[in-house]
Amino acid sequence: MIIRPGSTDDVPALAALERMLFGVDAWSEDAVRAELTGADRFAAVAVRDAEVLGYLIARSSGDGVVDLHRFGVHPDHRRAGIARTVLASMADGVRPGARRILLEVSASNRAGVAFYTAEGFVEISRRPRYYRDGSDALVMERER
Ligand SMILES: CC(C)(COP(=O)(O)OP(=O)(O)OC[C@H]1O[C@@H](n2cnc3c(N)ncnc32)[C@H](O)[C@@H]1OP(=O)(O)O)[C@@H](O)C(=O)NCCC(=O)NCCS
Repeated sequence: MIIRPGSTDDVPALAALERMLFGVDAWSEDAVRAELTGADRFAAVAVRDAEVLGYLIARSSGDGVVDLHRFGVHPDHRRAGIARTVLASMADGVRPGARRILLEVSASNRAGVAFYTAEGFVEISRRPRYYRDGSDALVMERER
């Protein structure tokens, strides 16, 4: 497996993963493209045998904060350390001066919350009924 920067060549693969992982909240191909080309964005993809197994899209705008916008691993390839490896690789794309990483995750997303907790993120606030399914968003933070 290799981790490389994501590019617009990855749009179809990422949109397919979006549909698989996020259902009604999935980004369309246009939305994925807009994210990949938006200001201050960077993306990393985990690839094996030309298949994209996982991805991360974040924004690092120079205010000392990295916002994690999207993070996912194909369901057939979980618990193999792919997300951990992709997160660790993110440091290469982060602007100098970034001090902390921020993200939102649904309180009902057991795997997501467990993953971020295992990676050292802590809950700093909660947004009640933030998601369409009525679940709260946990705002989690970690020193870079
Ligand atoms: C969250 C997600 C990205 C984790 O990806 P992953 O590649 O399976 O994670 P890793 O294998 O790198 O896991 C690293 C550690 O996180 C923790 N972890 C990950 N998934 C877990 C789970 N389902 N239950 C408990 N702990 C978990 C474990 O401590 C794990 O280490 P271990 O396997 O040695 O015990 C993946 O489950 C996913 O894509 N979920 C759907 C999309 C999503 O929720 N994205 C994040 C919120 S936007």
